[in-house]
Amino acid sequence: MGSQGERLDKAVSNRTSYTRKEVHALAGRGLVLVNGTPVRDCAIKVTGQDQITVDGNWLEMAQFSYLMLNKPKGVVCATEDAALPTVLDLVPEAFRRKGLFPAGRLDKDTEGFVLITNDGALAHRILSPKSHVPKTYCATLDKPFPARLSQEFAQGVLLPPERPREGEKPFHCMPALARQAGEDPRMVQVVLRQGMYHQVRRMFAVYGLQVIRLVREKIGGLPLDPALPEGGCRRLTREELEKLEER
Ligand code: URA
Repeated sequence: MGSQGERLDKAVSNRTSYTRKEVHALAGRGLVLVNGTPVRDCAIKVTGQDQITVDGNWLEMAQFSYLMLNKPKGVVCATEDAALPTVLDLVPEAFRRKGLFPAGRLDKDTEGFVLITNDGALAHRILSPKSHVPKTYCATLDKPFPARLSQEFAQGVLLPPERPREGEKPFHCMPALARQAGEDPRMVQVVLRQGMYHQVRRMFAVYGLQVIRLVREKIGGLPLDPALPEGGCRRLTREELEKLEER
């Protein structure tokens, strides 16, 4: 607290889903604490050194948020949807802030690791095929995985167009890794470095195989935390953040 820094109402509003007016109302009720003391004057200046809590939730002062979410089936990777729950609905109140979005889309029925952030530059680096950041999936097929497909995937699968009538052309995928995962011959680990619509499902469909369950297990060098329950969401640590961009 001092003459340097950001106004308290702006600092809170920028990092939560509250408007400035709502921050004033909360402060008026003694629910905004700076370094343990309720503050009613929202014009005071705060910095990253100050410990701020709003309605009992600690305020992360960093500009960007990075959250790991374990997406369940039936939830859409969007910021809003008229009919279905979105991944943002699963973000706990304490982590909500303006500008959060899912960095990359999983299908409604795909499960696993979704990164939620407000850092557009990092999202772009992770998603751009030019960055080659691998995404690792575990696919369960309707039939055993034919070992020869490892080679086909490594050479780059040719996907037929989804909408040929609209002039869409076949698409040559970048080389991908596919290998049997564990004992079950229907379980396959797939590593992609690009993210086309329904890509894993469409790649297997070329060979007459149906994906009956798909889970994203890893982004870059960072695995989904096995302790995070379905629908669970938590902040990444600094070390985990660095692993995201590992190739
Ligand atoms: N490939 C798919 O088919 N679906 C996803 O959600 C992700 C990759």
